[in-house]
This record gives sequence, C-alpha cells and structure tokens, in this order.
Amino acid sequence: MSGRHGLFLTFEGIDGSGKSTQAKRLASALQSAGHDVVLTREPGGSPGAEEIRRLVLEGDPDRWSAETEILLFTAARRDHLERTILPALGAGKVVICDRFADSTRMYQGLSRGDLRPVVDQLHSLMIGREPDLTLLIDMDPEIGLSRAKGRQGTEERFEDFGVDLQRKMRTGFLSLADEFSQRFRVIDGAQPMDAIAAEILSLVTGALE
Ligand code: ADP
Ligand code: TYD
Repeated sequence: MSGRHGLFLTFEGIDGSGKSTQAKRLASALQSAGHDVVLTREPGGSPGAEEIRRLVLEGDPDRWSAETEILLFTAARRDHLERTILPALGAGKVVICDRFADSTRMYQGLSRGDLRPVVDQLHSLMIGREPDLTLLIDMDPEIGLSRAKGRQGTEERFEDFGVDLQRKMRTGFLSLADEFSQRFRVIDGAQPMDAIAAEILSLVTGALE
C-alpha cells in the first residue's frame, strides 16, 4: 500500500480523545522504523490553511453561517491537499493527518442542522480524496471534554458547545465508521496511552505491508 503512492492516514474523534497525542507517537514510531513521514493537521497544514484555521477557530462562535463555515473548512482542505498532502503522497511518503474530511461531515454536517449532503457535494467537487486508513479514537464525551478543557488557548470554538454536541459527534463518528467500514478502524480511547499506541502501530504496520 505504501510504495510509490505513499499512504494517507487520518485520525478522527471528538475533542480531547487523544488524536494529537497518538498522531505524534505514530509519526515517531514510523520514523524510527525508517519511513518518511509527514505529520500534519486540519484545519491547517499549509500556510494558507493555517490562516483559515484562525478565521474558523477564533473569535465569535456565530461569526460564520453554517454554510460559510463549510466553504472555509473546504477551502482550507483544498489548499492543504494541493500543497502538502498530494506532493508528499506523490513522493511515496506516509502522511498522518490529525482530522480530515470526516470531521467536516460531523461538525459541519451534523451540528447545525442536516448539512451532510452539502458537505458531501462540496467534497466530491473540490477534494475527491479519502484517506487509505482512518483511525477513530472512540471516547466517552465527558472524559474527552474534561481532557480538552484542561488545555489552554484561544481555540475553543467547538469544545465550547459542550457535552451534548460531543455526544452527538461520538455517535456520528461511529456511524461514519460503519458507512466507510473499509477504511475505518475504531480504537477504544479509554485505554492507557501506551496500549493505544501499540494497537495503532500494529494496524498501520499491517496496512504498510
Ligand atoms: P485531541 O487531539 O483528540 O483533542 P489530545 O491528544 O490533545 O486530544 O489529548 C487531550 C489530553 O488528554 C492531553 O492532555 C493528553 O495528554 C491527554 N491524553 C491523551 N490520551 C490519553 C490517554 N490514553 N489517557 C489519558 N490521558 C490522555
Ligand atoms: P483540533 O485542533 O483537532 O481540536 P481538538 O484537538 O480539540 O480535537 O480541531 C479544532 C476544532 O475544529 C475541533 O473542535 C473540530 C473542528 N473542526 C471542524 O469543525 N470541522 C473540520 O472540518 C475540522 C477539520 C475541524
């Protein structure tokens, strides 16, 4: 699966589920094993997309309509794909991305009405690429929220919506894992960090063979 075309891995899950922690651990484990790895994130991952990140994650939560928000996340993703992800995959690298289009399907597609069809149309028009493997870290929303709240910073846009939204997102992510069962793997995020890292490394090693 790796070879000349690289391997595109994404992490998904609710806020505070341990995605960034595990993405970093996986990147260093694969690097130690001799793989060429690009660790990146969304929204962001390219200079232009990082600028859009500030527009969507900081400031008044009602700053954008739900539809405008979909356009902004998709614009960020398009830039990230063009400038970071596709060139790395083309060079045969392993790309590890902390969140991708499944997050838009959930956060923009579910949180403010049923906008999933709009998200999907825009995705097929402007992105048209799915990950080879998606690691969903499944987590109790109350624990996820308390972990996420423990962090400092100005980016609290979606965490601020609280535990009800997190619950809806958890259920939504699990349904998405059923919908795209070929590329999704669900990992129990309540385990200790080392156990999660070992499980993920073994899944990814299998995909690299
Ligand atoms: P995410 O990127 O999904 O929001 P993070 O990786 O930033 O989550 O983790 C959120 C917080 O929870 C961090 O403080 C991290 O150290 C902690 N954490 C991550 N994984 C675990 C785990 N398996 N057990 C306990 N705490 C964890
Ligand atoms: P992230 O930095 O991954 O936050 P966390 O570490 O708390 O999981 O993502 C920031 C926020 O952006 C997060 O609340 C989810 C949201 N988001 C969307 O709403 N749509 C998207 O398409 C993406 C990629 C993220």
